[in-house]
Amino acid sequence: MNNETPNAAGHADQDRYQLRPVIWGSVDAELVKEIRFRVFVDEQKVPAELELDETDSTAFHVLATDKSGEPCGTGRLYVDPENAQHAKIGRMAVLAQHRGGGCGRAILAALIDEARRCGYSVAILSAQTHALPFYEKFGFASDGPEYLDAGIPHRTMLMTL
Ligand code: COA
Repeated sequence: MNNETPNAAGHADQDRYQLRPVIWGSVDAELVKEIRFRVFVDEQKVPAELELDETDSTAFHVLATDKSGEPCGTGRLYVDPENAQHAKIGRMAVLAQHRGGGCGRAILAALIDEARRCGYSVAILSAQTHALPFYEKFGFASDGPEYLDAGIPHRTMLMTL
């Protein structure tokens, strides 16, 4: 996948990580599920029954691998059920040992590029509050108050595409 969203470290991220779209039901989808379970269920203690949902079968998913081909992160994009002009980004997850090296940035850039390519006007996401600065670096802005989802504090964030 081409990663066209400009950011300070964009070129370095492309050298470090490969991103590929994932068809739900494929072998790669099992890798995506494993990353999400390790991050959200094992690490963040989200109930396992909440992790996979009906959106997965229709969402656009990406899998990030490092230079050696090891899976390290994932994220998904889908149309906002409340507004067909809005693309929702979610399930952003980078394995703990791969954090801080630009993997999350590469995944988010790929999802934003896909949202632009599809013609959405706005990207929207539910950010865990600890990750607000990560999304702000891309131009997302918080919208509305903090709320709990699966027991974790979140805020809605938006970015015009
Ligand atoms: N708080 C503040 N800044 C953060 C941050 C955080 N939690 N996570 C990343 N950043 C910053 C980095 O310092 C970096 O800044 P720089 O461009 O100035 O160098 C930039 O954001 C990109 O960071 P990157 O290394 O690409 O992020 P990552 O690979 O560690 O992935 C997450 C970020 C949030 C996806 C990852 O920490 C993660 O999977 N966390 C657990 C699951 C989770 O909380 N997902 C988000 C749900 S909303």
